[in-house]
Amino acid sequence: MKKIVILNGPNLNLLGNREQEIYGTNTLDDVEKECLNKCLEFKLECNFFQNNNEGDIINHIHSAQDNYDGLVINPAAFTHTSIALLDALRALSKPKIEVHLSNIQAREDFRKNSITSQGVDGSICGFGTLSYLLAIEALNKLIYK
Ligand code: DQA
Repeated sequence: MKKIVILNGPNLNLLGNREQEIYGTNTLDDVEKECLNKCLEFKLECNFFQNNNEGDIINHIHSAQDNYDGLVINPAAFTHTSIALLDALRALSKPKIEVHLSNIQAREDFRKNSITSQGVDGSICGFGTLSYLLAIEALNKLIYK
């Protein structure tokens, strides 16, 4: 069975309460449940993590090289700031997809630039929880390509 990891960056633990008009009312637990169900459809084993610390997320990306067949990441605010995350993603030679709940292209100017997207195979944004589900489907294709 192929195994994937889904990583979530800072403040995503607050989903459900945080800026509901932008991020909706689903909690991160809701997102995780929907992701695990989608993975079952594709017979993918899935681990789902959230962390507010850049270094911990980087360590997870490093460990993906030996422990997973693919990665989905919502780097949250680190998307727009972190060259360290970009370097970690570039070092990972496994299929990898960036997701965002909101459409970062339609928001403040500082969100329009994604540094981390330069280190992944593709990005999906703007569909709420569905962004994650679409990413799992795309990742499954990349893993079996
Ligand atoms: C986000 C978009 C980021 O700009 C923001 O900092 C987040 C969430 C999203 O999923 O829409 O925390 O990654």
